[in-house]
Amino acid sequence: MLIAGNWKMNMTRPEAVRLATEVLSKYSPTDSVRAAVCPTAVCLESVGAVISGSGIGLGAQNMHAADSGAYTGEVSAAMLKSVGCDYVILGHSERRQYFGETDAGVNGKVHQALSNGLTPIVCVGEQLHEREAKRAEEVVRNQTEGALAGIGLSDPTTLVVAYEPVWAIGTGVTATPEQAQEMHAFIRSLLVSLLGSVGTSVDILYGGSMKPGNAAELLSQEDVNGGLIGGASLKADQFLAIVEAAQFA
Ligand code: PGA
Repeated sequence: MLIAGNWKMNMTRPEAVRLATEVLSKYSPTDSVRAAVCPTAVCLESVGAVISGSGIGLGAQNMHAADSGAYTGEVSAAMLKSVGCDYVILGHSERRQYFGETDAGVNGKVHQALSNGLTPIVCVGEQLHEREAKRAEEVVRNQTEGALAGIGLSDPTTLVVAYEPVWAIGTGVTATPEQAQEMHAFIRSLLVSLLGSVGTSVDILYGGSMKPGNAAELLSQEDVNGGLIGGASLKADQFLAIVEAAQFA
């Protein structure tokens, strides 16, 4: 199980340090659940210093696919690694929607993250009109196969997939546990056909309005192996309540 907080474009540096400090002060590590926080790029190093040695992982929210060069405003995998990142969220629906990210672009980033020792958290998920048109599986299949093309994996912990139905992100509407399990089982079958037996052990997170009140039920589903938490990760108590729910799921 992995519970990762996606802080999105929130928190100045002092605010981020305060939130990380509060999370750390109430966090007790367990063997069954890993926790991670994903602040903005400018706060990675300061938050990393707070959580260093605690067992809480550090993740970025995006990166560029190239090693280095003339890409004004961008950040490379090696840069993220050098400030202590363990994870990088790739292909989040907000990046697809507002910044034109494509499956091929996400695929380049996944390759680059893996070759730099960063664990990508690859986000997939359909929009409401796609679900209503009964195209959810087709969309998720294209995104998953596109993002993971050419990937070979020997260690399942070096990749994480997050199913985030776009209609559930930041809306307060979550997928039902049955809807989540159904899609997670479908993603599991895709991972096995793409990666072989290692695909059976890759964590598939659910994201989209996961909160302390609905986490236990979602996390108890067989193929729901954790959560990618937006809004609720900005409150230490709520984030840690979800981490605790994962321990008992
Ligand atoms: P939310 O965001 O928990 O606020 O719905 C989840 C995400 O976008 O990762």
